[in-house]
Amino acid sequence: MYKEFYGLRANPFNVNPDPRYLFLTRHTEEALACLTYGIQSRKGFVLLTGEVGTGKTTLINKLLEWLRLQQVATAFIFNSRLNTTQFLDYMMADFGIPSDSKAKSQILLRLYNWLLDRYRAGETAVLIVDEAQNLTEEVLEEIRMLTNLETFTEKLLQIVLVGQPELEQKLKQPQLRQLRQRLTLRAKTHALTLEETKAYIQQRLRIAGSNGQQIFDPEAVVAIHRYSNGIPRVVNLLCEHCLVSAFVDQQKVIGPAVVEFVARDFDLADGNAARAMMTSSPAAGQTTGQSKLDLADTLRSLANLADRFRDDEKDLPKERKL
Ligand SMILES: Nc1ncnc2c1ncn2[C@@H]1O[C@H](COP(=O)(O)OP(=O)(O)OP(=O)(O)O)[C@@H](O)[C@H]1O
Ligand SMILES: [Mg+2]
Repeated sequence: MYKEFYGLRANPFNVNPDPRYLFLTRHTEEALACLTYGIQSRKGFVLLTGEVGTGKTTLINKLLEWLRLQQVATAFIFNSRLNTTQFLDYMMADFGIPSDSKAKSQILLRLYNWLLDRYRAGETAVLIVDEAQNLTEEVLEEIRMLTNLETFTEKLLQIVLVGQPELEQKLKQPQLRQLRQRLTLRAKTHALTLEETKAYIQQRLRIAGSNGQQIFDPEAVVAIHRYSNGIPRVVNLLCEHCLVSAFVDQQKVIGPAVVEFVARDFDLADGNAARAMMTSSPAAGQTTGQSKLDLADTLRSLANLADRFRDDEKDLPKERKL
């Protein structure tokens, strides 16, 4: 409903990691270049980390899109609650390698032969593991074993491990030392600066069909950046709810008051969340361990909330959908 009011074709601030909306900052470009370079030059093992909601999965979806265009075989594992057997089964199925054996040695042999065939044909294969901060040590150890699949000169399987900063901490544990040593390249996603937040919002509106007419006034964008701390997922949530709220009031241009109202609704206006968000800005310098924790928790709650909104929206009768 609000789409028509604001001259949009699609919902601009969907919280799905849709690569069509990928906004490239200098950091995102660097991260994407690092990932593609690592894969093309068969480096074997690349790590992508970044705070909650800063665009890791969106970037990975872009990478997957690119790999599929290049006809590179890919397996994408995003369920980090798998045990080692389930992990291997999932990977084989996603690569499309038939495997009826339940014995791990047989599965690995099949994978090795399949990778060798591809290698001889001048092709590679890429395994991407998202949400890797939640993987068990056993599964991480299994991934390390997969990096041993190589010829005398080159890695047969390229692995991209993706996760929140806890993953870096996990990899520092002595028992995962061997895995860490195999990491050849590291890429990172970051929160957006104010300038980037402005451009990010503009780009999303444009892709969703806006003709460039002003929807968020500049002060509203400043407030969105302040409350979201430049975390794209929170920017999306705030913008989406500002659009709904302003539409209800039939306001064509969204001012800072609407942002304040929505942020209060999300408990971002006062209390720990907002403070943690503001003080944990890299520009703000020091961040206490506690505020970092608060920030991560708040973002997780927001993400869950967003999922609930999406689910609720699915259940709405059509005419009530916004
Ligand atoms: N660079 C970007 N361009 C466009 N949209 C982005 C970008 N980064 C993040 N987003 C948007 O922000 C939301 C969260 O992004 P995403 O799910 O990729 O984050 P994440 O880092 O994978 O989070 P998590 O740590 O929770 O897995 C999505 O709606 C996504 O579309
Ligand atoms: Mg993600």
